Amino acid sequence: MAFLSTQPYKGTRDFFPEDMRFREAMFSVMHDVVRRYGFDEVDAPIIEPIDIYLAKTSEEIVGQQIYSFTDRGDRKVAIRPEMTPTVARMVAARFHETPKPIRWYSIPNVWRYEQPGKGRLREHWQLNCDIFGAASEKLADLELLNLAVDLLRGYGANETHFKVYLSHRGILNGVLGGELKLPAEKWPAVARIMDKRAKVKPEAYTEMLANEGVSAAQSAELDRFLNDKLEYLKAKSHLEGAAYVLEMMTSLAELGLEKFIEYDPAVVRGFDYYTGLVFEVFDTHPENRRSLFGGGRYNNLVGAFGKETLNAVGFGMGDVTLEDFLRTHKLLADVPRRVDLYIALLDDTLATHALRLAASLRARGLRVESALAAGKLGKQFQEAEKKGIPRVVILGSDEAASGICTVKTLASGEQKKLKAEEI
Ligand code: HAM
Repeated sequence: MAFLSTQPYKGTRDFFPEDMRFREAMFSVMHDVVRRYGFDEVDAPIIEPIDIYLAKTSEEIVGQQIYSFTDRGDRKVAIRPEMTPTVARMVAARFHETPKPIRWYSIPNVWRYEQPGKGRLREHWQLNCDIFGAASEKLADLELLNLAVDLLRGYGANETHFKVYLSHRGILNGVLGGELKLPAEKWPAVARIMDKRAKVKPEAYTEMLANEGVSAAQSAELDRFLNDKLEYLKAKSHLEGAAYVLEMMTSLAELGLEKFIEYDPAVVRGFDYYTGLVFEVFDTHPENRRSLFGGGRYNNLVGAFGKETLNAVGFGMGDVTLEDFLRTHKLLADVPRRVDLYIALLDDTLATHALRLAASLRARGLRVESALAAGKLGKQFQEAEKKGIPRVVILGSDEAASGICTVKTLASGEQKKLKAEEI
């Protein structure tokens, strides 16, 4: 008989105890830092009507990566490929009663049918932080960028480990449409080629542009845009978003964040809902090429759920790339198991006594594993040692009669006689 496979579904992970401990340590920094910014946590179902993704999520996600099906009631549904439409839906559902600005975060698992590889899986967990309805969009953008930096600093990372690259949606559109005078239907293809610029040979890059009908003069203008960066923006201050980026860079410097954040004209972001600021965070280590987070401003998504709308800015940070980052830079190690005491049982008649002792120790907050069968003391020491439990409480008939236990520290061999309440 062939056995069933023990492997999880392609591109997904099982989380064994050591994996869960690592994940919990990773998430606990997220909760901590984000709550220091006054964010409230939310969650939602993993299944949504597919419509909420059709309008404004990226064409790549909806066309190729979404897990969708028709349920037994003939509804077209999808397993969430991202959290942003869900959060926008929730904001719209409590539009009037929620005080603004709204700062919400969540750590959902999201699903995309991708080719699994380093930093890319089909199921990942993603910290989402979003601010809705700030009267000053610029202040909300600044606060969110500051939070992004503080999250990674929360793990002990510094400017040598990561970089935030930002841009504005209006700039690229302005350059392609206004400066290069390319028709709008060419923009997505040209943006994709720009995205490949650093990864292919210069001749291949030029050829790809030529194939899209980009002339030599247009290609030279594009090079100036990509190479001259802030200088280009200063010279083309009429471009939508140019003044914003320049102002933003000044404010970020005033906050002492300039060493973490750079303007990068090549930041595009694949989602259709972004309307202003866009940014990505990258590991400086060449092995981790995938982005750690991505986000931006999306001012029209809440409005898809009702008459009223709210401006919004947010980001998503994935656990797969974050784990690669933390392990590569040795910022977070495996977390050992923590159980404080093992109660050894020498005689079956003492089982109830042992269980009572365990209960009283647990009531005091200690983590206690109790032997589930009587056995030789040597074997029980071994069992405690294998499980990484540092101390064993020995409970024999003498101990039960006197109420005084022997507590042995395995590493040193030291033994102490203690009353239960002294353990
Ligand atoms: P995203 O860029 O698609 O943005 O994803 C954000 C982050 O999630 C990525 O930078 C990466 O760390 C992680 N990620 C995405 N796909 C995968 C995958 N297949 N495997 C592993 N990690 C992955 C969004 O999803 C936006 N909804 C973020 C957002 C929130 N924008 C505004 N608010």
